[in-house]
Amino acid sequence: MHHDPHQHLPPWEIGRPQAAFVKLADEGRISGPVLDVGCGSGEIALFLASRGHRVAAIDLDETALAAARAKASQRSGTVEFISADALFLESLDGLFKTVIDCGCFHSLADTEREFYLDGLRQVVAVGGMVHLLVLSELEPGNYGPRRVTERELRDLFDDGFVMESCQPAVFEVRGERVGARAWLASFMHVGRTVGQA
Ligand SMILES: C[S@@+](CC[C@H](N)C(=O)[O-])C[C@H]1O[C@@H](n2cnc3c(N)ncnc32)[C@H](O)[C@@H]1O
Repeated sequence: MHHDPHQHLPPWEIGRPQAAFVKLADEGRISGPVLDVGCGSGEIALFLASRGHRVAAIDLDETALAAARAKASQRSGTVEFISADALFLESLDGLFKTVIDCGCFHSLADTEREFYLDGLRQVVAVGGMVHLLVLSELEPGNYGPRRVTERELRDLFDDGFVMESCQPAVFEVRGERVGARAWLASFMHVGRTVGQA
């Protein structure tokens, strides 16, 4: 049998940025400063930095952050990799024009999602964007994180954000040719409208 030297790696470690985010960058839909929430070993953050964006990236997994920092020393562009919790984004110093989240949001429980949204309302500049790649309900079986529907996303982001698009996309998986069905959902932070509590 072929020996896979990377078999200890989790399925999302594909060794390159997820195509959905490369496409966003190619389409000019990323502007800095960027925050990557749940950056893992940093492929997407490092890719965006190589395109000239200012990038901060957070995760709670120290092993992943160490791997990310090691890669950063070999790549062009700089990323500030920070050990921080997606549920307390307000503790970060800064206001971001773009927040990306590849596979972090979809691992959160319902109550955690609310905390996450509270933080996003504070760290995303008004007019700034949030782009999430989440596993979609169209992905069969129940392996991996729970599936998310467009409706759920729209409802969760209805306070302070407007859904700009929700496109079928793919969450690439190491060693698989096709990957998992996903949504690439994009929201603009519009701030709280007058009259809302
Ligand atoms: C599916 S992995 C994706 C990693 C990376 N975005 C990528 O595409 O390669 C999800 C990441 O979210 C991180 N994560 C989960 N909950 C988090 C939290 N509350 N705060 C920060 N990071 C978190 C995990 O440690 C993990 O690295």
